[in-house]
Amino acid sequence: MSQANTSSTLAVPAVGSIPRHVAIIMDGNGRWATKRFMPRVAGHSEGLEAVRKVVEECVRQNVQYLTLFAFSSENWRRPPEEVGFLTRLFLKSLKKEVARLAENNIRLKMIGDLSRFGTAITEMVEFSEEKTKDCNRLTLTIAANYGGRWDILQAMQKVLIGNPNLKATDLTESLLLPHLSMAYAPEPDLFIRTGGEQRVSNFLLWQLAYTELYFTDTLWPDFDATQLQKAFTWYAQRERRFGRTSAQLADELNVMPLSDAV
Ligand code: IPE
Ligand code: IPE
Ligand code: MG
Repeated sequence: MSQANTSSTLAVPAVGSIPRHVAIIMDGNGRWATKRFMPRVAGHSEGLEAVRKVVEECVRQNVQYLTLFAFSSENWRRPPEEVGFLTRLFLKSLKKEVARLAENNIRLKMIGDLSRFGTAITEMVEFSEEKTKDCNRLTLTIAANYGGRWDILQAMQKVLIGNPNLKATDLTESLLLPHLSMAYAPEPDLFIRTGGEQRVSNFLLWQLAYTELYFTDTLWPDFDATQLQKAFTWYAQRERRFGRTSAQLADELNVMPLSDAV
């Protein structure tokens, strides 16, 4: 089976000590700014610096897929000035960074319902995805106007549109998988949420089924290469059983189960 379209509930995926796919909820920008008596939006600008650092470190560590939650389908509930600022910041940084992404062999992908952002963004995204489509050092996915429930629903709709006579009992995971927004990537191995909250906030609900979940109080603008390495060290110590027992896993790897190790 290729890396794309793998499903941790259909087959046990290969795991290594460095996560192949890291998915991050970049939270805490507003609080970072408020603590410094700055407007919340200053935290979003500063958060961009953290994005650069994390992308660089992922490349250095040979991570293959990095997925960043930039704007949730629920974030439209924020004050219009903040939403407007985020939209402009996104467009500006996309224009500024796309050439650099291509130079560094980074493929850019966007997931989410982008139509709501208007044509300036959809056209720029189309251009950027096209320009970086053959890059293969790292796939950087930005989730914008994304929601995990939306993702599952839109995939279901596509299955039904493609198979109008499908019987309910014939609906399988394999039919659904190609239509999920991240069908091109393996499921995330490591999820990171900065900013102290321990929730998933409608991020990749389907894809996180067997992902290791790492939460840190560090606010996103303060997150850097060292913080990422800390998360990777924590990840390397997880025993990813995917439903099996510790002993079965040890058998397979021919090592002592963690629970028996001293
Ligand atoms: C995350 O930081 C960025 C976005 C959701 C766009 P927040 O803006 O949620 O920051 P806090 O949680 O209010 O500190
Ligand atoms: C989640 O952060 C979404 C993004 C980081 C884009 P929020 O700050 O919006 O999440 P909640 O509302 O605290 O759950
Ligand atoms: Mg937040």
